[in-house]
Amino acid sequence: MYRTHNCGELRISDQGIDVKLAGWVQRVRKLGGMTFIDLRDRYGITQLALDEKAPEQLISTVESLGREFVIQAIGTVIERASKNPKLPTGDVEILLKEVNILNKAELPPFTIEDDTDGGDELRMKFRYLDLRRAPLRKALELRHKMAQEIRKYMDSQQFLEIETPYLIKSTPEGARDFVVPSRIHQGEFYALPQSPQTFKQILMVAGYDRYFQIVRCFRDEDLRADRQPEFTQIDCEMSFVEQNDVLEIFEGLAKHLFKNILNVEFNYEFPRISYNDAMNYYGCDKPDIRFEMKISDLTNILKGKGFAVIDNAEYAGAVCAEGCAEYSRKQIDELTEWVKRPQIGAKGLIYIKVGNDGIKSSIDKFYTHEELQVVVDKMGATKGSLILILVGDKKITLSGLSALRLEMGTRLGLRNNKIFKPLWVVDFPLFEYDDETKRYYAMHHPFTSPIMEDMPKLESAPDEVRANAYDFVVNGVEVGGGSIRIYDSQIQRTMFRVLGFTPEEAERQFGFIINAFKYGAPPHGGIAFGFDRWCAVFGGADSIRDYIAFPKNNSGKDVMIDSPSFISTEQLNELGIKLMEKK
Ligand code: AMO
Repeated sequence: MYRTHNCGELRISDQGIDVKLAGWVQRVRKLGGMTFIDLRDRYGITQLALDEKAPEQLISTVESLGREFVIQAIGTVIERASKNPKLPTGDVEILLKEVNILNKAELPPFTIEDDTDGGDELRMKFRYLDLRRAPLRKALELRHKMAQEIRKYMDSQQFLEIETPYLIKSTPEGARDFVVPSRIHQGEFYALPQSPQTFKQILMVAGYDRYFQIVRCFRDEDLRADRQPEFTQIDCEMSFVEQNDVLEIFEGLAKHLFKNILNVEFNYEFPRISYNDAMNYYGCDKPDIRFEMKISDLTNILKGKGFAVIDNAEYAGAVCAEGCAEYSRKQIDELTEWVKRPQIGAKGLIYIKVGNDGIKSSIDKFYTHEELQVVVDKMGATKGSLILILVGDKKITLSGLSALRLEMGTRLGLRNNKIFKPLWVVDFPLFEYDDETKRYYAMHHPFTSPIMEDMPKLESAPDEVRANAYDFVVNGVEVGGGSIRIYDSQIQRTMFRVLGFTPEEAERQFGFIINAFKYGAPPHGGIAFGFDRWCAVFGGADSIRDYIAFPKNNSGKDVMIDSPSFISTEQLNELGIKLMEKK
């Protein structure tokens, strides 16, 4: 037997017993005549102690130990002279009788402790070493626990977990596909699924009226902190439901997870905010409602007073940061530079300070005191507040205000990651128009149903049609999204037409689902949650990377296994692929 206990479980009540532990040497320290070793495994750290009077052989073995050696330690549990309250095992240590080196280790390229000195890329290359660190271990433990609780809840609600294929068919909608060449059918390609969307709908046609799957999805899109080329969804679909039924079931899932993972209880229904309200008040479709600081539209109040910057702008809006009226010139300048960065793209920043000695503003010259007071009143700004105004194109300015609002929220400490404010965003537009390709795209996907009352406008005024779609948002993160689907083939045909598909194209791309729907498609709808994102939100992290055991780096590479990588000419020939000459 390699071990009788793990490195996280011995307590003072175990005093006096003989134990065997096995693990990795985190650190060796000499103190006076004693030598101490921190021995680590998945469960924790236990201190081993070597007395200077120990046999020569044991002393020389301990002296030969290096960081990350794998050892077996045999000894007696004793009370520590100086206890470590930070460790669950901190009251005890193992007085060594025997040490067996199970394997030596090369010196690791960074320290394997909670705070490491290793840079991002290095830790990705040696991911197996990084994964030994407690923060990553805890992240993966959280992910495991969440997966268990998800299955428990879904099972209790009669959902069947059904797997769908990974080698599927490429479709042009959505993000770019990752494709896989077929050897047997040369020149033809499979695509990896961006989501199991069509399969889950076909499962509804097949009568499996409650389906879910914790499933890998693949999207060849630009990467960000909350995006990976392969990520995991909790994918769900239900038949004979309307929007409210879906929201209720999955609000139930969210509450189950909050309760069982974080012990956070919500005794209220999550708010439901329309897309339009989200855009107008928060400047984005995934509002962080942990704090107020809503955006106010000041266009009508400020326009027409002779200040050209505003008179010529489509939109003027503001947020009000409480307690910031004392911001210095330097601080305002720095914030101005911040909003002028290309990511935000504002031309400048206008401020109104509501200080103890009255209102001061960068636009004093153009507006009377009374006019500025109207702004202050409209914003409900109290003494000590700083009103920050952006002007310009409505869409860009709202998105700038959204970023500014989040930044001020962070600076004011209003975005505590231990506080959770979930909500639903509903009534999304069905389409978005792309100026470049001059056509409409489905904002969610082409199977999303319009809201019934907007149906007559489907072809005449597509911009005005709302989708029967919803997103689940927590603390400014889009954790999930879904919709009620079209199940009437007539409406589906119209949808494809608005999206610019000829009937032949629609048949070629989506014929399989159109056909399936001819054989009795029930009314249905569903949702998919970003599992990695949900884990990161629960863990209080901004990036999903540490909640994935082996993620890709910022340029989509796995630097540990060195992928993507070239394949041999033989492999290429077998697949019938000829690479273009590099220019
Ligand atoms: P959608 O495209 O909104 O919907 O995706 C659902 C959720 O998946 C997460 N997500 C991602 N997470 C990490 N990396 C990515 N690249 C990534 N892309 C998306 C988000 C998102 O909310 N089939 C539909 C769902 C449905 O209608 O039922 C779909 O895939 O958290």
